Amino acid sequence: MEKRAQSSDFIVIKALEDGVNVIGLTRGSDTRFHHSEKLDDGEVMIAQFTDHTSAIKIRGTAKILTEFGEVESGKK
Ligand code: TRP
Repeated sequence: MEKRAQSSDFIVIKALEDGVNVIGLTRGSDTRFHHSEKLDDGEVMIAQFTDHTSAIKIRGTAKILTEFGEVESGKK
């Protein structure tokens, strides 16, 4: 099977309220926050997994599109 690159995938985040946080976590043995971006209602961020970013945490109500489909954060 072909080896998939560990980076280069994109996700789309659309904020459904003010103050949604998009937090980038570092790749490698030390997993920590390295960047936090605040989105207001209706704002869209297109974010990529990179050599520096292995995980993306979203806090608040948002619509998130990935290659696996669509998911909504912040709703119980
Ligand atoms: N400097 C970061 C990087 O190249 C920028 C970044 C990429 C980022 N994807 C992100 C920041 C997702 C927050 C969330 O990895």
